[in-house]
Amino acid sequence: MGDKKVIVFDTTLRDGEQTPGVSFNKDDKYRIAKQLVALGVDVIEAGFPAASNGDFEAVKNISDNIEGVTVAGLSRCVKDDINKTYNAIKGAKRSRIHLFIATSDIHLKYKLKISRDEALKMASECVKYAKGKFDEIQFSAEDASRTDWDFLVKIFSEVIDSGATIINIPDTVGYAVPKEFGSLVNYVKNNVPNIDNVIISAHCHNDLGMAVVNSLAALENGATQVEVTVCGIGERAGNASLEEVIMAINTRKDYFDLYHSINTKEIYKTCKLVSELSGIAIQPNKAIVGANAFRHEAGIHQHGVINNKATYEIMKPEDIGILTDHIAMGKLSGRNAFELKLEEMGYHLSHEEINEAFHKFKDYADNKKIINDEDIKSIVDDVILNYRNLKEGEFWA
Ligand code: KIV
Ligand code: ZN
Repeated sequence: MGDKKVIVFDTTLRDGEQTPGVSFNKDDKYRIAKQLVALGVDVIEAGFPAASNGDFEAVKNISDNIEGVTVAGLSRCVKDDINKTYNAIKGAKRSRIHLFIATSDIHLKYKLKISRDEALKMASECVKYAKGKFDEIQFSAEDASRTDWDFLVKIFSEVIDSGATIINIPDTVGYAVPKEFGSLVNYVKNNVPNIDNVIISAHCHNDLGMAVVNSLAALENGATQVEVTVCGIGERAGNASLEEVIMAINTRKDYFDLYHSINTKEIYKTCKLVSELSGIAIQPNKAIVGANAFRHEAGIHQHGVINNKATYEIMKPEDIGILTDHIAMGKLSGRNAFELKLEEMGYHLSHEEINEAFHKFKDYADNKKIINDEDIKSIVDDVILNYRNLKEGEFWA
């Protein structure tokens, strides 16, 4: 086990729900939240209570009925949002408000149409207003990765003075690259004077496919919380994927000196549930949980995996909760894999029968990409009938 604990803040029910076309109802959110607790996340961001009555009810339902986790609600820096968030999450055993305001010049000028000083004032006033109403106050500087670093230091320092206990650094538009993002986290850690005893968090988007690596870079540079979603769903190209961040930490524990409270055996089940309820299919080549993540197509690879899985597998499927591993039978499969498959299917064939069946299988596979068990059965039964001179019908008698 590593030395430093990573706090896993899951935002599947909030940023994940911002995936175009996705909307979770109250029951969906409850089912996912229960599964997230089984998975072992530390914080569930259950939604944005001021966004709609439906979301308010869904967040309240989770806060009132789900234990064993901190429940967070997103809120803009306005009193009405803070009041709604309070009413939605006050029943939680441990509550956290997640306040945010944009800090980059481009957002201040074109979106909020306010100055840096006005943003500073709003941020510190809203934190002061939230103080005492929640167990924890998290403050996010939206678009932090495109914000002037010294302004970021200033706003973080003010919100901490006002009562924030977690500061979050979002790469809102997925613009940062790992070394730079790591340096930003490091800069915040070393230049915000009152940062001790405050949790530093990272929230990365995947527009350039770097959400996971940027999150890991943040952890290497002083962040102790990562904001993630199951299967990486979220606004536009999505967020950092929970399962990828966690399995990177586990698989490379020689490199990352970190630990977490995730029960990885629940990962696959969680991904399937989120996929089912969001309607977003898991792409076959998705890292960790895609259908092909543990399938070996090339004969050489199959041979290696049969002899020793570590030749081509860096993780065990059972550690993620995937009960079977897969040898994909196709034209590239070798004789070793074919023999193993026959054994698994309960066949005991002579050397000649295997040869014959293997040749037939190869011819067949030239015309069909994936060969399933039924295909193999019909090839092998045919060979057995031929070799053993049995008439159809007698074979299984
Ligand atoms: O991407 C973002 O900046 C956000 C904030 C609300 C944290 O989702
Ligand atoms: Zn986001």
